[in-house]
Amino acid sequence: MDLTAFPRVSLGSWPTPLDDAPRLAAALGGPPVLVKRDDVNGLGAGGNKLRKLEFLLGAAVEQGADTIITFGALQTNHGRQTAAACAKLGLRCELVLTAKVPMSGPAYEQSGNVVLDHMFGANVHVCATPEEAVEVYDRVNHAGAVTLPVGGSNALGTLGYVAAAVELVGQLGERGIDDACVVVPQGSGATAAGLALGTELLGWPGTVHAASVSHSAEEATAELHRLATDAAGLLGRAAPKLGHVTVTDDTIGAGYGVPTDEMWAVLKLFASTEGVILDPVYTGKAAVAFERLAPTLTKPVVFLHTGGLPGFYGYAPQAVNQYR
Ligand SMILES: Cc1ncc(COP(=O)(O)O)c(C=O)c1O
Repeated sequence: MDLTAFPRVSLGSWPTPLDDAPRLAAALGGPPVLVKRDDVNGLGAGGNKLRKLEFLLGAAVEQGADTIITFGALQTNHGRQTAAACAKLGLRCELVLTAKVPMSGPAYEQSGNVVLDHMFGANVHVCATPEEAVEVYDRVNHAGAVTLPVGGSNALGTLGYVAAAVELVGQLGERGIDDACVVVPQGSGATAAGLALGTELLGWPGTVHAASVSHSAEEATAELHRLATDAAGLLGRAAPKLGHVTVTDDTIGAGYGVPTDEMWAVLKLFASTEGVILDPVYTGKAAVAFERLAPTLTKPVVFLHTGGLPGFYGYAPQAVNQYR
């Protein structure tokens, strides 16, 4: 598939590492485990959004934008990476944030991603209600502004993970691995959708498992299919079938961003076996799904680490209580 037709800015370091995780595999008692390190791709503390932003901001720069507006929860990783990318590109960044998670206190409200948003020079608007968010949005929007959706998840953003699928399948092939299961967190959807679409277009025989961290499996599946179909349209391809994709929602617990005991335990497992740090909101909950799934499989399992380390510090008091 040809992605060169789309304008793109360079934001990350590619390819990201694909690391063997033998001590984690031994602890799970299943097949070989690999970790795809999209958490260590450079700019602004890294993470999955950089792949989407290369295409989203590529288009914005081409159309002469001077400002990027986007949305998210207070500890949005997408907002932080957008702010870092805007700093690098010399664009103004307006972050319209709302309280979507029942967490409070100085760590959650001011540390983690929030302090980095300020350091990257973004204008951070913390809104108490959706109505206030609309008011702020109307105030900052203007002719030179480009608005990005929550999580950078639209058809163009999805292409970032179509490119990632090509990269990952190539890296697996170099190791002689033709068939594997890739486990990925799903929030706004474009990461899993791009991976699902890319692997299908490549004719890869492996499977993709998306662990929803926010929506029901039914809603998350519908969103994944919608985004993959829209992105396929951009590439001039028919709607994908996505028969190799499964979606679950049984590791969310009480809700988006609300810690669970299993999540804290799996963060400790990854850290103590491989020195890999996950986050409480996305990769931690996906890792619980990964931990349940891996021992049931015989083929290699790839955990796609989508980043989120700054968000961990928003939960610092809770983490201290868990691990001290
Ligand atoms: C660290 C991390 N992992 C995974 C995701 C989910 O990606 P997507 O929104 O593309 O489903 C996000 C989204 O914010 C994230 O910040």
